[in-house]
Amino acid sequence: MEIKSVGVIGCGLMGSGIVQMSAISGFDVIVREISEQYLATGLGKISSQLEKAVAKGRMDSAKQEEILARISGTTDLADLAECDLIIEAVTENVELKQETWKTLDAICPANTIFASNTSSIPMHIQAVVTNRQDRFVGLHFFNPVPVMKLVEVIRAATTSDDTYEAAMQFARSCRKVPVSCIDTVGFIVNRLLTPYLLDAIRALEAGIATAEDIDTGMKLGCGHPMGPLELLDFVGLDTVLAIAEIMYEEFKLPQYEAPEMLRRLVKEGKTGRKSGTGIYTY
Ligand code: 3HC
Repeated sequence: MEIKSVGVIGCGLMGSGIVQMSAISGFDVIVREISEQYLATGLGKISSQLEKAVAKGRMDSAKQEEILARISGTTDLADLAECDLIIEAVTENVELKQETWKTLDAICPANTIFASNTSSIPMHIQAVVTNRQDRFVGLHFFNPVPVMKLVEVIRAATTSDDTYEAAMQFARSCRKVPVSCIDTVGFIVNRLLTPYLLDAIRALEAGIATAEDIDTGMKLGCGHPMGPLELLDFVGLDTVLAIAEIMYEEFKLPQYEAPEMLRRLVKEGKTGRKSGTGIYTY
């Protein structure tokens, strides 16, 4: 099936990136946020990213206008009824995702494909609340979405061949490299990345070095673009905590257990770059 229009649920860090990438790739996109204020913030982020691309000479203003014209926003889920593909990018919370899918399932025609951008929650737990388990798939993007090349395509036992192929094709149309993964908690990247990020906090807690030196160690010693503590702030400490809790619940392995410092920072509202403070202050 051909995907022409995309609906995105959530215009936060990941949602806004997915909207931007989809519109740049020629899709008509409608994004839903829970309030006009969140919507304005998310759409504002996209506009300023495009503005930067024009200022750097990577895009002309006609192209910028063309891309922006493909994007619309709403606070009403019912406005996504005409979309061929709906990508969910809401908070990493099972009940919230299930509630969203249940509502959309009643609104959208049977052929609309539902895709979750969850970082860790398996598809079958989400698909089960819908009447379209064959048209449910995972499309896990990476932050910043317009820049990172990877998409994990997660195939549940119930995902049909057509749905899986449409998801792979969508990823390629967005000039991403899709990799396939079975429907398991954390998929490929977060299964490996989460223990690494948590270990970096454990190293900081243990006082082995300063945050700056831990980050410099991994950047210059291993060629990573960001150190693990910078990356934690970039992804959001609350998001990493939610992922760790879901993974620990599933695997009961110590490497997924959230360190005390992570819990404390999140409790204090220090969630990283988005709040102005996390491991570092911005
Ligand atoms: N949106 C769009 N474009 C962005 C952007 C954003 N949020 N942030 C940076 N860019 C663009 C810049 O405009 C620039 O484009 P240009 O080459 O056309 O000028 C390019 O990316 C490079 O940006 P900068 O020069 O500002 O900065 P860097 O060279 O330091 O790169 C980075 C920034 C791409 C974020 C790089 O530091 C990096 O790759 N960091 C690691 C990110 C990572 O690991 N992400 C995965 C996180 S895990 C995840 O998302 C999974 C989830 O489930 C938790």
